[in-house]
Amino acid sequence: MRRSHHERFGGAGRIFSAPARVNLIGEHTDYTGGLVMPMAIGFRTVAAISPRSDGRAVFYSDNYGEEVCFETTALERSPRGHWSDYAAGVLWSLRQEGIAVAGFSMSLAGDVPLGAGLSSSASVEVAAAMAMLSLADAELPLKTVATLCRRAENEYVGAKSGIMDQFVVAGAVAHRAMLLDTRALEFELLPLPEEVRVVIANSMVKHAVATGEYGDRRDEVEAGQAVLRRERGTELLRDASVADLEACRNRMSEASFLRCRHIITENARVVEARAALLDGYVKRFGELMVEAHASMRDDFAASAPEVDALVEIALRQAGCLGARITGGGFGGCTVNVVAADQAESFVAAVRREYAREMKIEADCFICAPSDGALALAKKGGAA
Ligand code: GLA
Repeated sequence: MRRSHHERFGGAGRIFSAPARVNLIGEHTDYTGGLVMPMAIGFRTVAAISPRSDGRAVFYSDNYGEEVCFETTALERSPRGHWSDYAAGVLWSLRQEGIAVAGFSMSLAGDVPLGAGLSSSASVEVAAAMAMLSLADAELPLKTVATLCRRAENEYVGAKSGIMDQFVVAGAVAHRAMLLDTRALEFELLPLPEEVRVVIANSMVKHAVATGEYGDRRDEVEAGQAVLRRERGTELLRDASVADLEACRNRMSEASFLRCRHIITENARVVEARAALLDGYVKRFGELMVEAHASMRDDFAASAPEVDALVEIALRQAGCLGARITGGGFGGCTVNVVAADQAESFVAAVRREYAREMKIEADCFICAPSDGALALAKKGGAA
């Protein structure tokens, strides 16, 4: 990266990187103040940055082999539906934060699978933010980095995502999962038991947060939340119980009722999952993942037949404690918790059976919880 940045732009680049993430449990809870439990994983976006004197922001994507140029002082909110929206959006969002970044060249490269529900977008946003902040000689706390990257995604790119991805990608710590309260923006780091591995299986069905279904779900959820607020005085879904929801059932659409039920029960599952981890009760943790999948599939209607097949195949395998869809939904990956000594054979069997049943070759990865961008920068291990 250092060499190719130098060859292209003629300056020694400072290097930053940000990981991808997988969410263990707590899906679609992060835009109604709820609880999530993601961890960072070993896939990364790397950003190299060097100053330039013509006031331009020039981005080069090694993955797309393309260069794009903006005037830093005249950058308006003008998404193009292009890879550069994420990095340009961060530049725009930094300006909203009162941080002006002078001209620069930035190279971006990464190995995060795209459209797989592993948060390639937050990985690019946070890597770009770290690089731009270093050029502007500014240091910001985790909450602010996450919030400004989310603003880039919501207001510049136009994807109505929550805060989970940007927060964990920036703030994760190796060997730990992160329990994040998305209302308070407070978190707790939780150990994963030694005897299990986290395995990600990609259904290879692409999903996109910026298009249709994610936004539709959000609208259904917000309509239900508004009814609860009016009828029960609960500000956010996070504050509501299933009994509150039942009491309002005939005042909202069936879709809103079901989506809200998923979120309310999911928050409760995250609380129980935390207790299970702290007690070393990994079997219960796995059961909660299975319940969470059923809820995403039946109440939230955000699974896909291929992903359901992948979960069913996983649960048939020896050593598999839990399996569920992860991320925004409508395709993408499953996350599985598997006995460490059976993880390799699990991967082989899942790939074989998925290929036989669905005629698709699934990519599978055995993952360890990694450092987020802030920890990487501190350790100087950015690249
Ligand atoms: C996407 C969004 C997140 C979150 C998940 C679902 O990854 O970016 O904010 O809403 O979907 O849990």
